[in-house]
Amino acid sequence: MSGLNAVMAASVTLPLGFGLYTIATERTRYLDTFILTIITGVLSYFATDRLIPIVKEFTRKAGLCGKDINKRGTPAGEKDIPESLGIVPGTIFILMNMIALAYTKFYFSGDLFIEHLSALLSICFCVFLGFSDDVMDLRWRYKLILPTIASIPLLLAYQGITKIVVPIPFRPFLGESIDIHFLYYIYMGSLAVFCTNAINIYAGINGLEVGQSIIIGCSIALHNVIEIYLFGSQVHMFSLMIIVPFIFCSLALLKYNRYPSMVFVGDTYCYFAGMTFAVVGILAHFSKTLLLFFIPQILNFLFSLPQLIGLVPCARHRLPKFDKESGKVVGQAEHWNLLNVFLRIVGPQTEKATCTQLMIFQVFCCGIAFIIRYVISRLFF
Ligand code: UD1
Ligand code: MG
Repeated sequence: MSGLNAVMAASVTLPLGFGLYTIATERTRYLDTFILTIITGVLSYFATDRLIPIVKEFTRKAGLCGKDINKRGTPAGEKDIPESLGIVPGTIFILMNMIALAYTKFYFSGDLFIEHLSALLSICFCVFLGFSDDVMDLRWRYKLILPTIASIPLLLAYQGITKIVVPIPFRPFLGESIDIHFLYYIYMGSLAVFCTNAINIYAGINGLEVGQSIIIGCSIALHNVIEIYLFGSQVHMFSLMIIVPFIFCSLALLKYNRYPSMVFVGDTYCYFAGMTFAVVGILAHFSKTLLLFFIPQILNFLFSLPQLIGLVPCARHRLPKFDKESGKVVGQAEHWNLLNVFLRIVGPQTEKATCTQLMIFQVFCCGIAFIIRYVISRLFF
């Protein structure tokens, strides 16, 4: 699509809420979509906020609880904290997307409708997979295989290109782009596996899983808005429609999960968040930019690799040590992840301060990502 101003051709559309067919311009259509996105977003927040206190009693009764390891030895560490509350935003998000789905059918191209349906199927499967993991504690090999299977509907519906753009210095030898065909599908499948697991293994202190996801989600939304503003991109409008309700329902979850956690989000939330990012990155064709927003998660993955592949022994929980005398968490040399490396660099500090600083680091990395995307990459592409 060649820019909002350029595309002023009239189209028959169904304006939001009025039920009347009318002639609307591309600009009106985008405005309507934007209003729908805000409405589903705000509804997602209030519905999630309202339901978490109710559902947490059900998960507690079902025995889905965990101890807060970073408060061990204090009264707060003895309490059973309800687990898997990611099931609430996950369900609300899927419901809101069903409303948006009807909208995609009337407002966007048929291809996008099919892509939206497949996206929902992939995200639904990930919520189911995450909840199963919380209930049954799945083995690592399944955590790798199942998100790959979950991404199949998404990959089959993918209508985009399978070409990669060659950086300017290599163009005299390789040409402007190379079509890598099925390898592109393998890349997209791997992206889904990476995103789901990357959020899950960068975890362990109150608010970290949801906090990082909200910052990544906001960066995606900002990127979408820039692309819509500059190029009137339809796929970015579509991505915005998916990511905004995600941000809002995650904000409601954060209210209960931030320090001191009243609920834990569970793997349900981690897989749901990861798959939502993969879905928008793939369908709106910005998977490389998406990976730039994952700099802390990529660092965490690289630090973790020796333990993940079994070269170095890996404990069930790779958390810092809680020192109950000082109330601070202390980085552990035997746990190879970003959280422990960070704590060993800055020294012992409270759990709350650690989470805040890691959030600032995430925002900083997303800022770098925007500079790479909009300034540095222009020199090469
Ligand atoms: C991943 C990490 C593991 C980390 C765990 C914490 C890898 C390979 N796995 O495992 O090292 O310990 O996440 O989420 O890196 N918990 C807290 N405080 C929190 C969040 C969680 O104490 O703020 C504890 C609770 O006991 C909770 C449990 O962690 O019940 C949840 O762990 P789970 O999500 O099942 O761990 P994994 O995702 O398998
Ligand atoms: Mg987990």
